[in-house]
Amino acid sequence: MSLMLFVERKMPPVVLTWLRRAFSTKQRIVLRRVAGSGWLRTLYYGFFSRAFRREQQAVAAGLALYHSTVDPNSTRTLLRRNIHRIEKGLLMRPRRERFALSYIGETVDCYRECRMAGCAADWAKDLAWAHDILESYFEVVADEGLVERAQAVFLSVDHPAEEGRGGRVPYSRRGSCPVSFDSFAALAKRRRSVRWFLQTEVPHVLIDRALEIAAESPTACNRQPFFYRFFDEPESLRILRPLPLGTAGFSHNIPMLCAVIGDLSAYYGERDRHGIYIDSSLSIMSFMYALETLGLSSCPLNWPDIETLERRAENLLELKRHERVIMFIAIGYPDPQGLVAYSQKKDLHSLRSFNQPKLAAD
Ligand SMILES: Cc1cc2nc3c(=O)[nH]c(=O)nc-3n(C[C@H](O)[C@H](O)[C@H](O)COP(=O)(O)O)c2cc1C
Repeated sequence: MSLMLFVERKMPPVVLTWLRRAFSTKQRIVLRRVAGSGWLRTLYYGFFSRAFRREQQAVAAGLALYHSTVDPNSTRTLLRRNIHRIEKGLLMRPRRERFALSYIGETVDCYRECRMAGCAADWAKDLAWAHDILESYFEVVADEGLVERAQAVFLSVDHPAEEGRGGRVPYSRRGSCPVSFDSFAALAKRRRSVRWFLQTEVPHVLIDRALEIAAESPTACNRQPFFYRFFDEPESLRILRPLPLGTAGFSHNIPMLCAVIGDLSAYYGERDRHGIYIDSSLSIMSFMYALETLGLSSCPLNWPDIETLERRAENLLELKRHERVIMFIAIGYPDPQGLVAYSQKKDLHSLRSFNQPKLAAD
């Protein structure tokens, strides 16, 4: 347990409140100065505060891996991103005669590398998708230089016999949305963070079904930079349940814990570093809705950036340096006797605005 946590738990509440106030006043004064000055900020976060240290370390490790030429995962991520870009080019209106010229060579090289490395079972669908998109691309884009050379490489690659049917390409959606607003509203209103669970095993097959929905969520450039790890063995639960801070009082009854892990090796530059949090969260929301439809419930669990906890999670979960915990999720069958919080939501007026401020070209 970190010193801070120990102090928080053992200190009399009055002293703790006083200390918090004093600390917050100091923070306010320091941070007001730091917020207003670029060089003070660099000084403060470079030498006095370690708040961003682990994030910086993970971002740098992710970039190093992304730009390494030997990491198969980086090649896959690059292939997925480029195929996504080509797919967007294919569906553009009007479609340009020639596009993707600056990266078609790189894409085909990645594709060939992945094929030659032996297509892992978990990548078969991605490679089939890459194949179909590249095939469509070469059907509509002609160029004597780059494209012709890339096509020659593409044609030299051995594709499994069952591929080449061209099914995984842009298509027109037909029909209207199969879920009514009322049904979806009922699901949204039913889902609540549940903290009391029956002590019943959570079938893995249901988790897999919910994950099929989670996998459908949008991600920037279709990178899908996350992984779900589930724990339901008693010993693992005993060790992991106290780890997220927000489970005090109900951690003992959580039958399954999930750690969602973000993968920073999916990005070529620091500017995309928030992608792991955004993409994972979108997917987690779908996952939690799906759980509800299957009779299961969940509670997202906060994972603040606290160095001691991060290190512990890193050891326990054997995380790599470019991997970060996004959040934990408690999962189980809801105990019908357990209460859920009412959790008043914002009303529309505090949730949105239209055309505010009014914009005009400078
Ligand atoms: C990122 C995130 C972290 C959360 N962390 C915790 C937590 O540590 N402990 C907890 O009991 N609830 C946690 N919650 C649940 C929130 O308290 C809950 O979503 C909020 O109060 C609204 O209630 P509802 O989910 O029932 O609509 C978390 C929710 C989110 C989205």
